[in-house]
Amino acid sequence: MESNCLVTTPIYYVNAKPHLGHLYTTIVADVFCRFNTMQGIESFLLTGTDEHGDKIAAAAKKNNITPQEYADKISATFRNLWPQFNVKPDYFIRTTFTEHKNTVTNILQKIYDQGDIYFNEYEGLYCFDCERFYQERELVNGLCPDHKTKLKTIREANYFFSMSKYQDWLIDYIKKNPDFLQPSQYKKEILSFLKEPLDDLCISRPKARLSWGITLPFDDNYVTYVWFDALLNYISALGYPDGNLFKKYWNNTHHIVAKDIIKPHGIYWPIILKAIGLPMYKSLHIHGYWNIDKNKMSKSLGNIIVPEELLKKYGTDAVRFAIMREMAFGFDTNFSEDLIIRRINSDLANNFGNLVSRTLSMTHKYFDGVVPEPCELKEHIVLRDKAIEVVESFENNMEKFKFHKALISIGELIATMNKYIDEKAPWELAKNENDRDKLKSVIYGLLEGLRIVSGLIYPFMPQTSRNLQDYLGLDCYDIYYDIDCLKSWSILKPNLKVKKQTKLFPRIEV
Ligand code: ME8
Ligand code: MG
Repeated sequence: MESNCLVTTPIYYVNAKPHLGHLYTTIVADVFCRFNTMQGIESFLLTGTDEHGDKIAAAAKKNNITPQEYADKISATFRNLWPQFNVKPDYFIRTTFTEHKNTVTNILQKIYDQGDIYFNEYEGLYCFDCERFYQERELVNGLCPDHKTKLKTIREANYFFSMSKYQDWLIDYIKKNPDFLQPSQYKKEILSFLKEPLDDLCISRPKARLSWGITLPFDDNYVTYVWFDALLNYISALGYPDGNLFKKYWNNTHHIVAKDIIKPHGIYWPIILKAIGLPMYKSLHIHGYWNIDKNKMSKSLGNIIVPEELLKKYGTDAVRFAIMREMAFGFDTNFSEDLIIRRINSDLANNFGNLVSRTLSMTHKYFDGVVPEPCELKEHIVLRDKAIEVVESFENNMEKFKFHKALISIGELIATMNKYIDEKAPWELAKNENDRDKLKSVIYGLLEGLRIVSGLIYPFMPQTSRNLQDYLGLDCYDIYYDIDCLKSWSILKPNLKVKKQTKLFPRIEV
C-alpha cells in the first residue's frame, strides 16, 4: 500500500462566495484524508482558488474594482471558511501566485517546443460561464447543458493544443485502469464521449477580448485559457518539476470533483499530463449535484445555501455528518433543511447521544465512573463480533468513497449497542450481588464499543470523536483511531476514569 497521498478539491472560481456545493467537495476531501491517517497513510490536502478568466474579470468590473482586488477578497472568504468546518488544507493555492504563473509559462513553452501547439483560425459556439467552446451535438435544446444559457458564436485566431492525437491512448488507458475514473457511471460517460473524434483544445484568448490571465510565453497578444491554467495548479502547488512535495505525493493523487467538470479532469488533464511526460493521477472521484427543487445549486441560478448559516444553526460536526450521510457519492441529492434537522435529531441526538449518556451515567452509577474489569467475554462477545464486522465494512466503504454506507454501518453498531442495553437490563443486574461480574462485563462491553465508535466517527466528526475519547478518559487520540486498533477488542484499560458527560448533540426544535 502507498504511504503518501495527494488529495485535491477543484480550485474554486472567485466570482462569487462559497456555497454548500463547494463545502461538500472540500469536506469529502478532508474526510478521505482523515481516513488515510487512520490507515497510516500520510496525506496532503490541496485546495485553493481559480482566479483568471472572463468570469472573474466580469465580476470585478461589476463591482468597480480590479480583478486582483476582487480575487483577493473572494479568495479570502474560501480560505477562511475551511477551518470553521475543521478542514485545514496543507496548502491553499491561488492561480495568481507567481510560482504558479511561472509553472504555467514553463509548461506551455515546453509543449510548444515539442510541436503540440499550433495556431489556427476558428469559429465556434462559446459559453462564457463554462469558458469553453461547445460542439453542436453537446447542446441541450440549443442551450449550454450546464448553464441553460444561449451560446455565442465566436470567430477568432487562437492557439490550439493537439489533444486529438492522444485520443486512442486515453481510451486505452481508461480501459486498462479500472480505478482511474470513479464511480463507473462517469467512466462510461467519458468513454462514450470519446467515441466521437476529439477536438483540439483552444488554449488561448486574445488580449483584445480578455486580458486577465497568464500571457503566452510565445505570443504576448494572448493570455492562457483559464482551464489550461487552472489544471496545472495540481502540480505547481507541489513545486513541479523537482520540489520535494511533488516527488513525495504526485505518484498517488486522488482528485475529487463534481460532474460539472469531468471533461477537463477526465480528458484534458490526463492528456496534458501525457504531453508533459508525467505519470497519471491515481483516481478521479466524481460526485453528483446538490439540487434545490431539482435544479443544480449554483451561483448563476442564485439558489445557494450559505455554509456559514448552516454552521451557526447546527454546528460543524452536525453539518459535516448530515451532508456526508445524505448524499450517496456519485449521485444527485436534493437539499432541504428538514432533512438535515431530521438526521441530527434521529441519528445524533437520539441514537448516538442517548447511547453515550446512558453508558456513561451507568458507569458512574454502578462503578463510580471507573471502567470495570471485562470479566466474562461471553457476555459482550456479541458487541465484539458486531464491532469487527462494522469496522470491516466501514473500511471497505471508505476506500470506495461510499461514505454514506460507512455511516450507515456505524449507525448499525450504535443501534446494536442500544438494543444490547435494553436486553441486558443492567439496572436489573445491579439489584443482585451475584450478578456483579455480569454487570461489569456488560458495562465494559459498552464502553469498549464506544471506544470503537469514537474512532470510526473521526473522519466525519473529528471534534466529537475527540470529545468522546475525552469522556472515556483516553488521552492519546491518534492511537484510538488507528484502524488496527479499532479491529481489536478489550483494548480499553480497566480503572480509567470516565467523565460525567454533557449533552453531545442537543435536539433541534422546529
Ligand atoms: O469549476 N453540487 O470552479 P467552480 C455539488 N474553477 N458540488 C458543487 C455544486 C453543486 N450544486 N456546485 C459547485 C470550477 N460544486 C473551476 C475548477 S479545477 C482545476 C477548476 C463544487 O467554482 C464541485 O466540486 O465552478 C464542483 O466541481 C465545483 O464546486 C465547481 O466549482
Ligand atoms: Mg461552476
